[in-house]
Amino acid sequence: MSQRAQVVLFYTLLFVPVALCWAGQHDVRDLHTQHLRGRAIVHDSSQLSQAYDFIIIGGGTAGLVLASRLSEDSNHTVLVLEAGNTGDDVKVSTDIPGNAFTHSLLHTPYDWGYNTVTQPKANNRQLYWPRGKILGGSSAVNGLYLVRPSKIEYDTWADLMQSQDNGAGAKAWSWDRHFPFMKKTETYTPPVPDAQSVLNVAYNLNNHGTNGPLHASYPGYVLPVVSNWIPTLQNVGIPQSPDPSGGQGWGGFIATSAINPTNWTRSYSRPAYIDPLPPRPNLDILVGVTVTKILFDSNLTATGVQFAVSKDGPVTTINVRMEVLLAAGAIGSPNVLMHSGIGPRDVLVAAGVDVKLDLPGVGQHMQDHISSSVTFKTTAETIVSMLAKGAADGVPPGQSSPFLSFVNSATCYANTSNLIGSYDDAVKFQKTVLDSLDQSVSTLIPSKDPGVIEGYKALYRANAEKILLSPVGQVELLLYATGNFGPGDQTISLQLALQHPYSQGRLYITTNDTFDTPALDPQYLTHPADATLMRQAVRLARKIAATPPLSNVLGDELSPGPSVTSDDAIDAFVANDIQTEFHPANTLAMLPRNQGGVIDTKLRVYGLQNVRAVDASIFPVQFAAHMQWPVYSLAEHASEIIRAFHNGVADPDDLSSTPGGNNTNNNNNNSSTGNHHGGALSSSIPSVLTSAVALFAALAVVL
Ligand SMILES: Cc1cc2nc3c(=O)[nH]c(=O)nc-3n(C[C@H](O)[C@H](O)[C@H](O)COP(=O)(O)OP(=O)(O)OC[C@H]3O[C@@H](n4cnc5c(N)ncnc54)[C@H](O)[C@@H]3O)c2cc1C
Ligand SMILES: *[C@@H]1O[C@H](CO)[C@@H](O)[C@H](O)[C@H]1NC(C)=O
Ligand SMILES: *[C@@H]1O[C@H](CO)[C@@H](O)[C@H](O)[C@H]1NC(C)=O
Ligand SMILES: *[C@@H]1O[C@H](CO)[C@@H](O)[C@H](O)[C@H]1NC(C)=O
Ligand SMILES: *[C@@H]1O[C@H](CO)[C@@H](O)[C@H](O)[C@H]1NC(C)=O
Ligand SMILES: *[C@@H]1O[C@H](CO)[C@@H](O)[C@H](O)[C@H]1NC(C)=O
Ligand SMILES: *[C@@H]1O[C@H](CO)[C@@H](O)[C@H](O)[C@H]1NC(C)=O
Ligand SMILES: *[C@@H]1O[C@H](CO)[C@@H](O)[C@H](O)[C@H]1NC(C)=O
Ligand SMILES: *[C@@H]1O[C@H](CO)[C@@H](O)[C@H](O)[C@H]1NC(C)=O
Repeated sequence: MSQRAQVVLFYTLLFVPVALCWAGQHDVRDLHTQHLRGRAIVHDSSQLSQAYDFIIIGGGTAGLVLASRLSEDSNHTVLVLEAGNTGDDVKVSTDIPGNAFTHSLLHTPYDWGYNTVTQPKANNRQLYWPRGKILGGSSAVNGLYLVRPSKIEYDTWADLMQSQDNGAGAKAWSWDRHFPFMKKTETYTPPVPDAQSVLNVAYNLNNHGTNGPLHASYPGYVLPVVSNWIPTLQNVGIPQSPDPSGGQGWGGFIATSAINPTNWTRSYSRPAYIDPLPPRPNLDILVGVTVTKILFDSNLTATGVQFAVSKDGPVTTINVRMEVLLAAGAIGSPNVLMHSGIGPRDVLVAAGVDVKLDLPGVGQHMQDHISSSVTFKTTAETIVSMLAKGAADGVPPGQSSPFLSFVNSATCYANTSNLIGSYDDAVKFQKTVLDSLDQSVSTLIPSKDPGVIEGYKALYRANAEKILLSPVGQVELLLYATGNFGPGDQTISLQLALQHPYSQGRLYITTNDTFDTPALDPQYLTHPADATLMRQAVRLARKIAATPPLSNVLGDELSPGPSVTSDDAIDAFVANDIQTEFHPANTLAMLPRNQGGVIDTKLRVYGLQNVRAVDASIFPVQFAAHMQWPVYSLAEHASEIIRAFHNGVADPDDLSSTPGGNNTNNNNNNSSTGNHHGGALSSSIPSVLTSAVALFAALAVVL
């Protein structure tokens, strides 16, 4: 077990009993219980109708956006089925941003807590893959980074679908067409003066939304060391991004975070999209139930879904009138689809599931960001030192909720030349990667299906030809000042995460029970280009750490340590150190069907009449970004496509209309999601925050 994993486990064990006593100490919960009745969030399936127009599988990041937007139309009934619970007893963990780092919900019942199958190139380890199992999904448990992909990446996606429908539907996923939905999700607030004096954030308001449900902002407290970040990067030749939200998200910048600055709480899909709604009799949300399968008639029209509370519990069936929407995430959605008989024939037969439709791409093309780090002693304040000092003095530093909104958000997306050396070196590297395509096809694809193989090639070429030699980041470097090694050591890490992997894996079921965990095989580091980029990223991290002004506050390198310098030694370190950056995706990829695609440009599953997928599984390419912002804007865009379809108006993407224009307003006057601002901080919160600090002078760090 790595040192980091031990620390995580230790604090997880510490956290669980304390979380239980907190639940009784504050009244935030009562506040939310009242909201629940209004929102028709129910725990008991007897309160449901027998049929709904839309059934959404998964009340996570995308699922709650869909629920909110589709139920704006009072003529449509909407049901959300979520496996996790409301999370009302763990508001302290979900709502206080800094608590994502100090006592997260990972390794608790609110985490699916998956593990990959053994990864031979990661020193034969099985890697831990957390996912949120809670209303709000992973947006309730994640690290709060809000980062948009670049225009080049969206346009690469659209190009992959250009052969379909004469390019009509593909256009939807180009940057220019999709960009308005990114703004539609968002209410942007620049940093407060205290934070801005350290962060010096560059931003352009034209690229941001002003009235969306999700808050994009910055923490109320920032460690002084963060002010060194941008100048240090500039000194190694990596310029600051003028505004990372406008399609040029590369170079150094301070990321926006999903923080509601009116009360310094986490903004995630539930408080953003569901809690502020007026009562809607056409929306039901049932928590604590796992969807086991979608039911189909002989025509492959979905007629309903089945769910159960537990593996051996009774199964309930609810009928669907219009559509089933898969929003169970990059693991949950392909899992449900395969257990419904839709997927690769060989996988389904081996698992004992009746094949309804042989769709070989389900679960394929899986990609993830892998992450490692270089850690240094520091003389600068870290969150560990701030909290330890406060505990020793008996005066916690975090009396204020702004302090406890601390997050890590200083980032850098380094391009191929930044990593490999010069631009010329990058050109040579690109040639090596392109030249190894045939070799990779013959050895690295976990499928014999000719379509899946074509899809692998298409993604590989798109990556190598359009992204590798562009300014888009290949590796993300994060300044991580919350401390990695627990109390006592003052450390700062530079985390490095591969953004555009050439290794692709797959997910597949091994039993006929949806409650069983599917096999997750990302095939980490199987392509040599991935190992090269990670190795060079370790070197770049050291170069950054040795450059002033950051070097002025950093001391000895603790991990991997100064003796680890040769290619082989760094590769061995990386193989043993990588973990997920928490962005597995692409398991129901939007690609042409003859390339192992699963989803068409309208997000419909090929071959099914009325099933769409809307979540992180549908992206064909990985992005140099964190995953939640693309998921939110995807779900906003999907909602418009779906509503236009059922309201008998032309698809907005087939006209050149703008979102929120004609099409959505035609039949509905209730298009606002009820974005209420200015709510005062609940008076109970500060005492909760204080006790959190007093109890947790020490930290578990995972995000
Ligand atoms: C620990 C962690 C840290 C992360 N950090 C960041 C970050 O800082 N910034 C960022 O942008 N991204 C981050 N991510 C990634 C990001 O949060 C996710 O990629 C994104 O939220 C996924 O959204 P989704 O809608 O696809 O899935 P989810 O939000 O995971 O939603 C899926 C939902 O479906 C439910 N479900 C699954 N199966 C079933 C079933 N059979 N029946 C009923 N319900 C089911 C799940 O319980 C869940 O609620 C992080 C993720 C994790 C786990
Ligand atoms: C608008 O919302 C109100 C209150 O939720 C509801 O009573 C009404 O039916 C809705 N009207 C439309 C057109 O959606
Ligand atoms: C098959 O599906 C189509 C499209 O939804 C529908 O029009 C048709 O009536 C269905 N046929 C049967 C036999 O259900
Ligand atoms: C990477 O960024 C540097 C600095 O801006 C730039 O000079 C170089 O051309 C970029 N490389 C690529 C491949 O775009
Ligand atoms: C699922 O598999 C088990 C054991 O392999 C078998 O006993 C059971 O009948 C199967 N169930 C269904 C619904 O096929
Ligand atoms: C809006 O609707 C009107 C009337 O139906 C139509 O003439 C116009 O083209 C539509 N505009 C857009 C942008 O779709
Ligand atoms: C609901 O449906 C009725 C009957 O089809 C229609 O008259 C009305 O405009 C619809 N309302 C909305 C909000 O779509
Ligand atoms: C929406 O509002 C407009 C103007 O307020 C009104 O004329 C129209 O009838 C309303 N439509 C519906 C479906 O309620
Ligand atoms: C924070 O403010 C928002 C409104 O901006 C509100 O919906 C939410 O309930 C508040 N959270 C708490 C815990 O008070």
